[in-house]
Amino acid sequence: MPSSIYYLCSLALAGTLASARTITVMVAQGGLNFTPGTIRAQTGDEVAFVFTRGNHDVTLGEFDRPCQPAPNAFWSGTITIPSGLNGNATFTIPIRDTEPKWIYCSFGRHCQNGMVGVINPPSEGDNTFDAYKSAAEEAPESNRPTAINGGSLIVRGDLEIPGFPGNSESSSTGAPTGSATNSATASGTPPATQTGNAGATIQTSGALGAVMAGLTVGAAWFGLI
Ligand SMILES: *[C@@H]1O[C@H](CO)[C@@H](O)[C@H](O)[C@H]1NC(C)=O
Repeated sequence: MPSSIYYLCSLALAGTLASARTITVMVAQGGLNFTPGTIRAQTGDEVAFVFTRGNHDVTLGEFDRPCQPAPNAFWSGTITIPSGLNGNATFTIPIRDTEPKWIYCSFGRHCQNGMVGVINPPSEGDNTFDAYKSAAEEAPESNRPTAINGGSLIVRGDLEIPGFPGNSESSSTGAPTGSATNSATASGTPPATQTGNAGATIQTSGALGAVMAGLTVGAAWFGLI
């Protein structure tokens, strides 16, 4: 019996590891939307929001308050990618539970104009993607957190994000600037900084340990300065 129990446990573990996925969501490809707009993710998965154009963000909201950030919302920061620029950014969030997560772009009136989405919508009831989108149309304003939070941001190619660690002189010292400083301050935790061939990485842990804010600059960036 012990060996069959061990066998079953091994199977269960293998199943868990094999099922963790990264789900890619394109941001504003062909309109003010997230593609897909309805995302289904399991605990342990990650959702990666890929920004390739325009001025956008992804913000965690609440169904009843469209276009407003949830308490301690994850936020990518505003990502601006000029047309014709060879570069992009990916903001990746960990999925720690399967509760519904209503998301929106807080830039301009993008939320009101339909740029909303949902991770794991309820399987029944009135809280649907379409209901959130309709309510967002009536939202008087859009708001956002004050600092990047709750995920990791990777910037690729020629894209520059003002104040981003690794940007100009800050790359040589590894000192966090701009949004990185803000996120470290917001969480009350001094950032751990690494600088090297692989780029600068800053990761901060939230006070409750439940929120991770991270910034990563890829190696490719340095070749372009
Ligand atoms: C992101 O930018 C990198 C570097 O320019 C490029 O190789 C990659 O194909 C881009 N990815 C997307 C989805 O645009």
